[in-house]
Amino acid sequence: MTPTQQTLVQTSFAKVAPIADVAARLFYENLFERDPDLRSLFKEDMTEQRQKLMAMLSVAVANVGDWNKIAEAVQALGRRHVNYGVKPQDYATVAAALIATLEQGLGEDFTPEVHDAWEACIAAVAGEMLSASPFH
Ligand code: HEM
Repeated sequence: MTPTQQTLVQTSFAKVAPIADVAARLFYENLFERDPDLRSLFKEDMTEQRQKLMAMLSVAVANVGDWNKIAEAVQALGRRHVNYGVKPQDYATVAAALIATLEQGLGEDFTPEVHDAWEACIAAVAGEMLSASPFH
């Protein structure tokens, strides 16, 4: 990610942070619409899951310029995901659902540059998560 992309991810995330729970709801709707089979991997009550996802995204976004600081934690998150039954190909579905959510949440602020910056950010996080998994 370029420094400009890091800034774009941070400023655009700040715009959805005030509507974090709505954004998280929208994200899981987008996700399960794309792949209904993924619903069974999650608990019935998604309240805690929504909070954990947004908290983790906040940490990742805040540290996007200082990747080494969070790389280990992101790898550990990736290893836990293997136990959740997540497959490597599911990361593409999650990425698409996240991009769609940002587009819905940001509207016209979701410029092509913001889009590309998020694609790069998600690829970095997913790549780090998968690098530590036995699929690698
Ligand atoms: C961008 C990548 C991702 C991030 C940042 C992320 C974040 C998180 C976080 C923070 C948790 C809470 C539990 C923990 O810390 O271990 C979690 C759990 C979980 N995630 Fe992810 N995740 C990602 C990708 C995925 C993908 C691709 C799937 C596939 C469907 C997925 C499915 C799950 C499931 C099933 C749980 C556990 C639910 C439960 O046991 O209640 N995640 N995720």
